[in-house]
Order: sequence, then C-alpha cells, then structure tokens
Amino acid sequence: MALAILILAAGQGKRFKSNRPKILHELAGQPLVSYPLAMSRTLRAAKTVVVVSADSQRAVNALIAATDIKAVTAVQRTPDGTAGAVRAAARQLQGFRGSVLILYGDVPLLRTETLHRVVRDAATRRAVGSVLTVELSDPTGYGRVVRGRDDCIRAITEERDADAATRTIREINTGVMCCDAQWLFAALKQLRANNAQREYYLTDIAAIAAAQGNGLVPILTGDPTECRGVNSRAELAAAEAELRQRLVRQWMDAGVTFRDPASVYLDATVRLGQDTIVEPHVTICGKTVIGPACHIKSYSMIEDAQIGAAVEIGPFARLRPGTRLDRNVRVGNFVEIKKSWLKAGAKANHLTYLGDATIGEATNVGCGTITCNYDGVHKHKTIIGDHVFIGSDTQFVAPVRVGRGATIAAGSVITDNVPPGALAIARSQQVLKRTWKRKRK
Ligand code: UD1
Ligand code: CA
Repeated sequence: MALAILILAAGQGKRFKSNRPKILHELAGQPLVSYPLAMSRTLRAAKTVVVVSADSQRAVNALIAATDIKAVTAVQRTPDGTAGAVRAAARQLQGFRGSVLILYGDVPLLRTETLHRVVRDAATRRAVGSVLTVELSDPTGYGRVVRGRDDCIRAITEERDADAATRTIREINTGVMCCDAQWLFAALKQLRANNAQREYYLTDIAAIAAAQGNGLVPILTGDPTECRGVNSRAELAAAEAELRQRLVRQWMDAGVTFRDPASVYLDATVRLGQDTIVEPHVTICGKTVIGPACHIKSYSMIEDAQIGAAVEIGPFARLRPGTRLDRNVRVGNFVEIKKSWLKAGAKANHLTYLGDATIGEATNVGCGTITCNYDGVHKHKTIIGDHVFIGSDTQFVAPVRVGRGATIAAGSVITDNVPPGALAIARSQQVLKRTWKRKRK
C-alpha cells in the first residue's frame, strides 16, 4: 500500500527560548527536522509533507532541496493544535489513497524497525490506524492511552484534560500514528476544540475510531529513549548524548576502535573505515570520510575531510573543510590544514599551516611551515611536487610552485617558483663577528 509521511513541525517551541525555529537547531550536525525527513527515504514514502510555520518555510524548503528527498512544505498559519497541523496538509494530500504516517519534527531518535511495525501492523490488523505507545515510569505531560476491552485504544487523553484515574495510566501516546488517509481527513472534520488548551487535538481521532467500533491499534515499544521529544535545550543535549552513543556503537560494530567512546563526537554524516583507531577527545564532523586502518590521535578536530587508508592524524591536529589526505599521509601535532590535498606518503609532522595547497607524494613538510595563502583580498595556491624536502620554518608566499624533488632550505621565504631538483635558499646570510664583546651590565 502507498505510504505518505506527514511531519508536524509548526509548533512554536516556546520552551526552547530561541529566535530560531526549534526544528532547525542541530543534533549531531543536522537540523532536528532532517531526522524524520530522512525516514521518507528509508520507508520509501510516495509523498512527504512537512507542516511548518510561516517563519521556517524557506529554511525547510532549502533543507529539502539539499537532499534527494522529494518532500513539500505546507504552512500552518496559526498553531491551533496537532490536528490543525494535519489539516494544513490536506491540499498536498488531496486524493491520496493509502496510509499516512504522522511524525513530529522534534522527535529525532525513532528507529526504522519501529516505524515499519507501526505501518505494517495497522495494515495487517485491518484497523483504520495504529499509534506508537510506550510505558513510562513518569508519564507526566504526555497524552495517556486508554485501552478498551478489545485492547484497542478507546481514547487518548491529554494530561490537562485527564481525571486522577486516567493520570495513573503509564502507557502514553508517542505522537507517532499511521492512519488510512481517507479516514483520517474525514475524522478531522468531526473534531472540536473543547479542551483545556482550546486547540484541535489530533489525539481525539482515537475516540472517533473507537466510536465507529474499530479502535486504533496500540503498538507498544519497549524503548522510551527512541520516542523522546526535544522540547528544551536540556532535552536536545540528552538526545545528542543518546545519538552519539548509537553512532559510536554502530561504528564499533563495523570494526572501528574507540578507546573512550564517551569522549568522541561524531556527526551522523561521518563515515569511518575498518580497523581505524580513534583516541579520546576527538571530534569528527560534516561529510568526513575516513579510510581503513587510520589512527586518529587525541584532541584532533576534523571537518568535511576526505582521508585515505592508513593515515595518522594528531594529536592536536585541525583538519578543516576541503582537506584531502591520501594513503599513508602523516599529519602531526599543531598542524592546521584547509582546502589542501596531501598526496600519498606526504608528511607534515609539526606546527604547520597548509591552506589552498597541493603537497606531492612522499614530500616532507618541515616543522613550522606556513603557506601565506591570503593577501588580504584573495586566496592563492601553493603547489608542491612529489619528493620535495621542505626545511623547517619555511614560508610559501602564494601563488607559488615547487617542482618535483626540489629542496627548500630551512628558514626560507619562498616568493618565486622553484624548478624540479633545485635547492632554494631564501634567507639572509649569517653574519659572524669573531671579536665582538657583550656589554657589561
Ligand atoms: C503531543 C500529543 C500527546 C503526546 C505528545 C508526545 C496532541 C494533542 N498531544 O503533545 O498526546 O503524548 O505529543 O510528545 O497531539 N505542532 C504543529 N502545530 C501545532 C501544534 C503542534 O505543527 O499547532 C507540532 C509540533 O511542532 C510538534 C508536534 O506537533 O512537532 C507536537 O506538538 P506539541 O505541542 O509538542 O504536543 P504535546 O503537547 O507535546
Ligand atoms: Ca512535544
């Protein structure tokens, strides 16, 4: 059966205390809303609609455009409740036949298998819909799931509208639902905003289904962490910790060693090769790809970099966007690299800045080498050939080229191109005063 995904993301997020829409705040390097959005690809949805507030529509459209996901946005002008949000997408889903899976923009940790169950069980039980539920030791604040005698849902009652007995129920509505599209939009027409918040509650469709004699099916998950919503900065940090644990676990299962997983920060977009070792206090973010058998030493920070096999990095290395290190490269402590390509076996072991540079195969970059790539207006390139030996404390004033096999004397300021095989010395001659005496103090 065809599946549409509806992501509710038009809420105000008041508890977040931010000028920026909550769903655009980042979790492991990606906006919150991109997590439910990614489910569109995973579950092969025929249609995906993100319901947004007017102030976040442009940003969400841009986010969608940057992916291969075919999704559209629908604006909910006034935040009049979760049912109001679904209604806002009515036009985009007009005539759609199949199931609609409803997700929240601020619930990022749901597992694919769990959502598969929600979609599948509604279909196999021939119910009009299903609701993902979970039992919490402290259900405060959540909608309670009231089961009928047939174990289907009789009603979902919000905390504010619940009586004392209903409040003791520990099974809660996670917000994830899957319903027959035609039935859903018909049911929405029956809703009234007669509740404590004067809002249109999507959860009221549970009682409508029950009254029709065919209650929604509760799908109970055993893992409350995957259902966690992000309503505050503290919850964002908790979700980040959980996701980070999962990511590190996933890479350990794929053959990566972490000496202290709790101190390593990985974005969800990072890829790591087998037998790579990551030491404590390492941050790897963006679209970084690290090859097999690499060694990433403590306190290294890597962003949007492409790293080949058996590369050694750090400790205290900073690889900025556009860094490419081919196999067997060695980058040591206090080395910063930006938009530069180090070819196989090249070494930059200490105290170096390489920006907008190409460093040839097996070239040795001495301690304290600096590319002067910026003239205050433009950035310029430094191109260094294979098997070059660069003495310590060399500056390359770009644009400049050094040919294969050349040698640069220590302490040189290289402003002119150096031909292959040549020795370049660009420093003042040492002066010796043999009879000179220091003044007495
Ligand atoms: C909702 C559920 C509650 C459930 C809880 C789980 C209702 C009435 N209540 O409560 O049963 O236990 O989630 O976290 O559905 N949104 C809009 N437009 C609106 C209002 C909300 O798009 O007008 C979006 C929000 O951006 C959010 C989601 O819907 O992604 C949930 O809204 P929220 O206000 O957080 O609902 P809760 O009160 O937490
Ligand atoms: Ca919420």
